[in-house]
Parts: sequence; C-alpha cells; structure tokens
Amino acid sequence: MLTDSFGRQFEYLRVSITDVCNYRCQYCLPNGYLKPTSKTQREFLSKEEIANAVASFAALGTRKIRITGGEPAIRSDLTEIIQRCKQVSGIETVAITTNGYRLENNIRAWHQAGLDRLNVSIDSFDPRLFHSITGHNHLESILRGVEQALELGLEKVKINSVLLRQFNAQGLEQILHWLKDRPVTLRFIELMQTGDNLRFFEQQHVSGQALEFDLLKRGWQPIARGSTAGPAKEFQHPNYRGRVGLIMPYEKGFCETCNRLRLSAKGDLQLCLFGEQGLNIRNELTNQNHQILAKRIVEYVKTKQAAHSLKQGNSGVTRHLAMIGG
Ligand code: 5AD
Ligand code: SF4
Repeated sequence: MLTDSFGRQFEYLRVSITDVCNYRCQYCLPNGYLKPTSKTQREFLSKEEIANAVASFAALGTRKIRITGGEPAIRSDLTEIIQRCKQVSGIETVAITTNGYRLENNIRAWHQAGLDRLNVSIDSFDPRLFHSITGHNHLESILRGVEQALELGLEKVKINSVLLRQFNAQGLEQILHWLKDRPVTLRFIELMQTGDNLRFFEQQHVSGQALEFDLLKRGWQPIARGSTAGPAKEFQHPNYRGRVGLIMPYEKGFCETCNRLRLSAKGDLQLCLFGEQGLNIRNELTNQNHQILAKRIVEYVKTKQAAHSLKQGNSGVTRHLAMIGG
C-alpha cells in the first residue's frame, strides 16, 4: 500500500485524461480553454498509457480510479478508457467527474463499460444561473442524465456544487427538495483560490460554515466517517433519501484525511491539488517499465507535504482546476 511519511494511505488515484474543457465556469476557465500553441503540449496520455498507469498503481494497492479532466467526455475514447480501467486486476471502483454535457447520451455506454460512480458538476439548479456560471444552458439535459444514472443503478451518484457568495444559499430549499426522494449526495465545495482566479475568489469565496449551521438547524445530522473516507463532511436527514456533503479546504485538519493521488493528462504524478509540477512518469508508462516505475512512485509519495498552504495564498502551480481535474 502506498503510504506517505505521515502515515496516510493512498488507495485512490484520480486520472486526468485531458485538460481541455468546453465550459467556461467563472472560477475556472472564464475565457474558455486556450489551446496551447505547441503540439506536444496537446498530447495527452493514450488509453494504453492510462491502462499501464492504472495497472502499476493497482499493483501498489490502488483500488479506486476516478477519471477527470478538464472535461473527460471531450475524449472520444472515454468509454474505452473506462473499460480498460475496470478490467485492471485489483481495481474495484471506477468513477468519473464530468460537467455532464454528454451525460444524457453516454451514461448507458459508460455504465456498460463498467462505470460504478458518477460525479456531475451542477453549481445552480436555476437554468439562468447555471448558464451564467458555466456559459452553457445544458442544465435540463444534465438533470435527465442524472435521472438515467439513477435508473441504471450506479453505485453512487454525486452532484458537485461550488459555493459562491453571489448565489449562496439561493435555491437551497429547492435543492433539498430535489434530494428528498433521490439517493444522491449533493456536495457543496468551498471556492478555492487558484493562480488565475484571485479577483473572483476575493469577491465570491464564502465559508461553508454558515451552510453547516443551517443544515444542523434543519435537522441534518453529521455522518461519522472512517479515517480513509477523504476530506468531505457528510450529513443525512431521516426524511431524505439524499445526503449533503461539505468540502471545506480552508478548515484546520482538512489534509489529515487526504486519501488520493493525481495523475495529470501528460503523465505528471501530483501529490497535492495545490502542489508542484509533480513527477513525470510518462517514459515508464510508454515503455512499460513497471518495476522502475513502482520504485519511483513509492519514493515520491513519501515526499508528500503534510498540508496545502492555501491559507497563505499559495496555490502551487495550479492556475485553474481544469489543469488537474479537481
Ligand atoms: N474551487 C472549488 N471548486 C472548483 N471546481 C473547479 N474549480 C474550482 C475552484 N476554484 C470544481 C468543479 C468540479 C470539481 C472537479 O471541482 O466545479 O465540480
Ligand atoms: Fe470545465 Fe470543470 Fe473548469 Fe467548469 S470547472 S470550466 S466544467 S473544467
């Protein structure tokens, strides 16, 4: 099992398969994705390299893979990538995080390919606000995609919703109502500062604490979570099938339960969302040097820092989360 010098164990790998995204979320890519000029910068890991990476990590104890982007559904071989990940011996769970624009048309194929869990980003359940945040008016199609995922019986369906001051708590009632009969976890994520979004961050960041008080007041109860469950807090309510989650990266102790590593779309192993460039392992992936690779990974993981330094305004090399997949 991959373990760092603080005793944290990593059974979970997030694999970004592209940093391209078609959305223009105000906090992430407000001007849309800018295509790099050089061709090499656009060469993302092939599905073979991804499968090799997953096999190498699985041999080191990885059990769960999450496919991220940019927007992973931009890639036409996404279904095959899901299938290749799922076929790797030792991998129990394959998940995806998507903005949902291809969800309605593809969820069936993804499920058939072996997808177990789905996270979809929905920052507002109001179509107008959704449009103004993302630059697209796909909300209704995305919601139909989510319903299909539920019908297909995916093991877990989660919605990610970034907390923004301007829209804060607007529609909470409507969201909770939506959760009443649906076994979905709605996760509110505090806005995080990145290299590119400082002004937006200063205007829009709100702590999740007020929301936490509000939920407690409404009878939502915190769920005790295991030490390897990752950094989200979750709440349940006896009258609701759905759950609410809160991700508060500025809270003390947030990094203590970190359980994930990240592989960028160009093959950099990254130890933190807000860390450094990472360790490039592409050569070993291409040449299938599993033993050499295993050694490099084990040693690199030991250098993981105790915590990010977001509170000091340091977001590492991360200009926006499309670079690294959240
Ligand atoms: N702060 C918080 N969440 C963000 N996401 C993207 N950028 C940020 C940010 N700066 C979210 C996306 C998606 C998830 C992967 O991360 O909305 O749901
Ligand atoms: Fe795309 Fe996700 Fe960034 Fe929005 S947050 S622009 S959907 S990568």
